[in-house]
Amino acid sequence: MTGPLLFTPLTLRGLTLKNRIVVSPMCQYLAVDGYVQDWHFQHHARFALAGYGLSFVEATGIMRDGRITHGCTGIWEDGQVAGLKQIVDGYRTHGVATAIQIGHSGRRGSCARPWDGAAPIEAGGAEPTWQTVGPSALPEKDGYPVPHELNQAEIADLVDAFVAATKRSLAAGFDVVEIHGAHGYLIHSFFSPVSNRRTDRFGGNLKGRMQFPLMIAEAVRAVWPDERPLFYRASSVDNVPGGLPIEDTVALAVELKARGVDVIDCSSGGMSGPATLATTKLSQGYQVPYAGAVRSGADIKTMAVGLIIDPEMAEAVLRDGKADLIALARETMADPNWPYHAAEALGVDRPDSVLPPYYSFYLERRAKVLED
Ligand SMILES: Cc1cc2nc3c(=O)[nH]c(=O)nc-3n(C[C@H](O)[C@H](O)[C@H](O)COP(=O)(O)O)c2cc1C
Repeated sequence: MTGPLLFTPLTLRGLTLKNRIVVSPMCQYLAVDGYVQDWHFQHHARFALAGYGLSFVEATGIMRDGRITHGCTGIWEDGQVAGLKQIVDGYRTHGVATAIQIGHSGRRGSCARPWDGAAPIEAGGAEPTWQTVGPSALPEKDGYPVPHELNQAEIADLVDAFVAATKRSLAAGFDVVEIHGAHGYLIHSFFSPVSNRRTDRFGGNLKGRMQFPLMIAEAVRAVWPDERPLFYRASSVDNVPGGLPIEDTVALAVELKARGVDVIDCSSGGMSGPATLATTKLSQGYQVPYAGAVRSGADIKTMAVGLIIDPEMAEAVLRDGKADLIALARETMADPNWPYHAAEALGVDRPDSVLPPYYSFYLERRAKVLED
């Protein structure tokens, strides 16, 4: 019998991940002026020592006004590279590959941090507001700020900003770049019929709504080295009336693949507010069917994410051919050593071997002396 798929390496272009377990992007909202802080180093060190195959640095703004909150990380100026590189180097020491998620908040920018309510910040408060942007002048909700409708020259500038952010990601040493095309932010807002009412070539039918995501993917791929994988996070479905169906996302994935995207990271929602702040009940692995549909429908590798907690479920997702990678977000906060515990649960010989040798040395001996 072969070992668990979860602990089987995966090669994507010139990168081989030692296993299929991924730390999903998680905004910490603790950056200052886009610069990472001590908290970020400490947060990532927990995962660098814990045997993940790949770990993500959070949604990082390609422009100052592309942040969600004043606490979001940024990659719009060269000075921001050094801190990110320090995170990358920390992971590399322990054989963990790194990814950065680059994005623009669009009409969901200028918001408060989650613990301050996540709503648009008010003018005259402690932190300045900024003008949000989008494909159409449609607010997310009644009473929310109306985004400025981007013109074609501004769209071209945004593509340039994604390119510059990609070059800085390379300078920081990331193995993977992920384009943030989900959760109601700028790229998703172009793709979704809920937020895009344009009548020019960036709107209208499915082909028009795909234009902006595909332009970004093409431009990023052109400057991201061939041997490095490119991921795209999609909100696979909108889950609101008139929103994206999975078929549109499959069609987008086909086009993204043709432009050199290697993995679709299959999330969902965000058109009506942050999904992770929702309080409606969800079942474990609720987004796995989307990863499965995109994988089979577009013949592309996928990453499953969303309430994947049990190692047995993670293994089944891979075995059933629903996804190639398993991303965890909140569970890594509860159990940073999830890969070790998963290795134990799935009967990996020497589960300690997923950890750095300075830990596994002792855990192997402990296993030998522990009575059954
Ligand atoms: C604190 C926090 C921050 C997050 N930040 C991001 C982010 O930067 N980019 C993103 O695409 N998703 C973000 N997410 C969503 C997660 O990546 C993940 O898709 C979601 O939490 C579902 O996975 P989980 O059930 O394992 O937490 C965040 C989630 C949490 C809890």
